[in-house]
This record gives sequence, structure tokens and C-alpha cells, in this order.
Amino acid sequence: MLFAAIVILCGAVLSGFVLQRDDVADPAPLAQYAASVEQGRYLALIGNCASCHTAPGGKPYAGGVEFQTPFGTLYSTNITTDVETGIGSWSFTDFYHAMKRGIRPDGVHLYPAFPYSAYARLTDADIASLYLYINTVAPQNVQARPNALHFPYSIRPLLYAWKALFHDTAVYEPDATRSASWNRGAYLTQGLGHCGACHTPRNFLGAEIQDLALTGGVYLDRVKTGKFRAWSGVNLTPHHTGLAQWTEDDIAAYLQSGQSRHAVVHGPMNEVVMNSTRHLSDVDAGAMAAYLKGIPSQQQGNVAAADPSTLDAGEIVYTVHCGSCHLPTGLGDEVLGVALAGSAIVQAANPSSLLNVILYGPHLPAPPFVVNRTQMKMFGKRLSDEDIASVATYVRASFGNTAGPVTPEQVYAQR
Ligand code: HEC
Ligand code: HEC
Ligand code: HEC
Repeated sequence: MLFAAIVILCGAVLSGFVLQRDDVADPAPLAQYAASVEQGRYLALIGNCASCHTAPGGKPYAGGVEFQTPFGTLYSTNITTDVETGIGSWSFTDFYHAMKRGIRPDGVHLYPAFPYSAYARLTDADIASLYLYINTVAPQNVQARPNALHFPYSIRPLLYAWKALFHDTAVYEPDATRSASWNRGAYLTQGLGHCGACHTPRNFLGAEIQDLALTGGVYLDRVKTGKFRAWSGVNLTPHHTGLAQWTEDDIAAYLQSGQSRHAVVHGPMNEVVMNSTRHLSDVDAGAMAAYLKGIPSQQQGNVAAADPSTLDAGEIVYTVHCGSCHLPTGLGDEVLGVALAGSAIVQAANPSSLLNVILYGPHLPAPPFVVNRTQMKMFGKRLSDEDIASVATYVRASFGNTAGPVTPEQVYAQR
């Protein structure tokens, strides 16, 4: 795989020089845009700049947040107005090219862990508002932490080739056959909201596979114990393994309040909802919901059938440990536990999030967030890898659910 990556990247470097994809012109002078600090503050919330640029216990926007990727570890940078260690000396044009092309004023290429692949969809006026807002952030003199990426991914110039292959710098193009609301939702979901960063599968060079957009992704994040483990962002399309049962109101309620009839926010969505989508206006939350309900219904790959003896074993574990709250029908109860029938987390192509919930409990956000349900415990210490694999296989193939089996090895990998 490493060899293939080097060959492809080198080939692309050459073709990249020929193709010259640096096709983004400088923006108009800042004063010509209908932009404001207020608008920028809202956009920064929806873009969730703070979650990735504010380390736990660190100063706002001073960077240092750790990201673990299949290519190694990297850290976010200081985007405060500090001139020495932040971006205080950047002009609007500098900032614009970082957001559109993932490039710094000194010509250095930025890693796509900074979701410029999504932010490139933004209108120039919205980028101008973001710039005005970021310029109001108090300076913090905090040096960036050095990255620890594996060779050859540590060589930043190779990103030039990556971009030639995978990065589209074009602004969002409205679809004339759809409503204004749907288009607004598409703009927010694909652009600032960068939902695809976790909900779209990636190829072996870390680029989102657009044909499978929003059908579910996998990435590394912390679990309750603080360790980094795989998580699966669920299928957000209207497929029955995705959001089929969710109405537009359910989706908007979940994004704005962290709860709907179908789910209580937990795991990595805590930060997304608490720092970002909670601030969506009613109109924008409704637009994102309308968009998600209006994209093609899709599922990833073939689904293998589960072995009958595993299903029998899983049913026993379920009856003893889960059925009292999620009910024998899997339909759940408003107070005791959410429905597992039709659940997107249960049926995600990759079972990591389901396994994390069983092993570590749902990991709800901190107060003042209120949950009016009983709490689910951690089962990691009570159940063996075999038991968890069989109960996971059982819930994925019962109650009308149609997702593939889970192996004890997959459970072990999440511990
Ligand atoms: C998913 C995490 C993530 C989100 C969300 C995010 N960033 Fe970043 N950003 C990063 C990382 C990681 C880097 C460092 C990339 C590198 O070193 O190549 C970065 C780098 C940058 C840089 C380049 C700074 C420099 O000194 O090189 C700018 C500017 C920036 N981000 C602005 C923003 C803004 C504005 C937002 C919100 C609209 C935002 N970022 C949201 C992860 C994120
Ligand atoms: C940092 C990664 C990340 C980002 C960004 C992200 N999600 Fe998620 N999302 C997840 C993961 C992981 C899960 C499954 C586990 C969980 O709920 O934390 C999930 C679950 C969900 C669920 C299903 C909840 C349930 O319990 O069934 C919805 C709906 C959702 N995300 C919508 C969105 C939308 C809309 C966006 C963009 C605004 C978004 N997500 C951005 C990681 C992410
Ligand atoms: C004491 C009641 C209780 C028991 C027992 C219980 N759960 Fe839960 N479970 C919940 C509640 C409540 C939630 C919703 C999150 C919350 O509020 O804690 C939940 C959430 C979940 C979710 C996330 C669903 C989603 O879409 O967000 C899954 C998956 C799950 N439980 C599976 C199981 C499995 C499998 C077992 C048995 C090994 C189990 N639960 C045992 C109460 C329980």
C-alpha cells in the first residue's frame, strides 16, 4: 500500500505540474463584499472552527488539538491574531487561499485534516465574513506542535499532487431543479458543516469518495477512557440503514438540541452538536434536514448473512443485558432506551460506533445538557469479545435491521 501510495503520488506530482490546478484567482478587495463580523461569528460556529482549533484547557483558537489519522499524528495550528505564532499578519487574500486551496501565504500546502475540501464550497462573501470575525479573536502566543506523520505523508509538497487528484476548489453551484431551502441545506452540509468529513468513506489516500457521499465514514477519535479508537459516522442518506425513519423535524431537533425521537447525542457528535449545530438558526437547521432527506438513498457494499448460531447466542445476551431497556422488539421506550430497530448507529457499514457504545456506554455530553432517559452502562468489563460480537451481530440483523455480522476480532480492536 505504501509503495502504491508513493507511485501514485509521484505520478500525480508530474501530472499536477502539467495540469496546473492552481486555478483560483485572488478575491476582490475585502470592502467590496457584503460581509460582517456578526455573520462571521455565526459562520465560524457552523464551521466548528473552535472544536478543532481550541485544545482541551487551551486558549480559544490557539491550536494544538491532536488528530490521529492512518497517516500519522498531526496538530491544528494557532489561528488567533497573534502575529508571531498565529495568523495576525495574514491579509484577506492569504486567508482566502487557505480556505479555498489549503495553502499558506508562504506557499506551504496544508493537510486536508483542515477541511478545506469542504470550505472551498463557500461563497467569497462568507469567506470575507469569516476573515472579519477571526480578526476579532484575541491574540495568543502559542507555538504550533510539531506533527508526527509517517513517510511519505510527512512530505508536504506531495499534497500538491493530492490536490491535483482530489481537491475541487469550485464554489457550491445551486441545483436549479431543487428548492431554495434544499440548496441552502446542501451549501451548509457540503461546505461549512463538513458533515462528509466523518460521514463519507475515504479512499486509501484519505480523499472522500464522492459517489458514496454521506453513506458513512470511519475515523479515529477519543472514547470515554481517553484512548483513540475508530468511530463510524453513520449513513445520513434516507436509506433504511440511515435516516429513513427520521422526519425533517427529527433531524433539525437533533442538530439543534441533541435529542430526537430516535437518538440522544453521544460520542463524537457531542462536539459537533454542542459547539456547532446547536447554534443553527431554525431556517438553516430545517434546510439541512430538507437536504439530507432529499439526497439519493444509498448503502455501502454487500451485506453478508450472519451465522444462525451466532444469532442465537446474540439473542440470549440481548435478552439478559439489553432487552429490559431497548425492549424485546428493539423498538425502545421514551424513558428506558432509544429504538435499535432502524437505528443508523446499529446498522452503520462499519460497526465501530455500535461497539464503542456497548463497550464504553453512550458517553453523553456534560451538563447543563439534560437527558430525560435512564443511563446505559458500560458493558466492556462484563461481557467477553465473543458475547459483544454476537449481541452486535444480533441487533444488526434483527427488528428489520439489515447490517452484516461483527467478529470478536473487531470487538477486541475497539478495547
Ligand atoms: C476538523 C478539524 C478542523 C476544523 C473544523 C477547522 N480546522 Fe483549521 N486547521 C485544522 C488543522 C489540523 C490545521 C493544520 C493543517 C496543517 O498543519 O497542514 C488547520 C489549519 C488552519 C489554517 C492554516 C493556519 C496556518 O498557520 O497554517 C487556517 C487559516 C484555518 N485552519 C482556519 C480555520 C477556520 C476559519 C475554520 C472554521 C471555518 C477551521 N480552520 C476549521 C483543523 C481544522
Ligand atoms: C467529527 C466527526 C463528525 C462530524 C464532523 C459529523 N458527524 Fe455526525 N456522527 C459522527 C459519529 C461518529 C456518529 C455516530 C456516533 C455518535 O453519535 O457519536 C454520528 C452520528 C450522527 C447522526 C445519527 C445519530 C444517532 O444517534 O443515530 C446524525 C443524524 C448525524 N451524525 C448528523 C451529522 C450532521 C448533519 C453533520 C454535519 C453538520 C455531522 N453529523 C457531522 C461523527 C461526525
Ligand atoms: C439501563 C437501560 C439500558 C440498557 C440495559 C442498555 N441500554 Fe442501550 N441505551 C440506553 C439509553 C437510555 C440510550 C440512549 C443514550 C442515553 O440516553 O444514555 C442507549 C443507547 C444505545 C445505543 C445507541 C443508539 C443510537 O441510535 O443512538 C445502542 C446501539 C445501544 N444502546 C445498544 C445497547 C445494547 C447492545 C445493550 C446490551 C448490551 C444495551 N444497549 C443496554 C439504555 C440502555
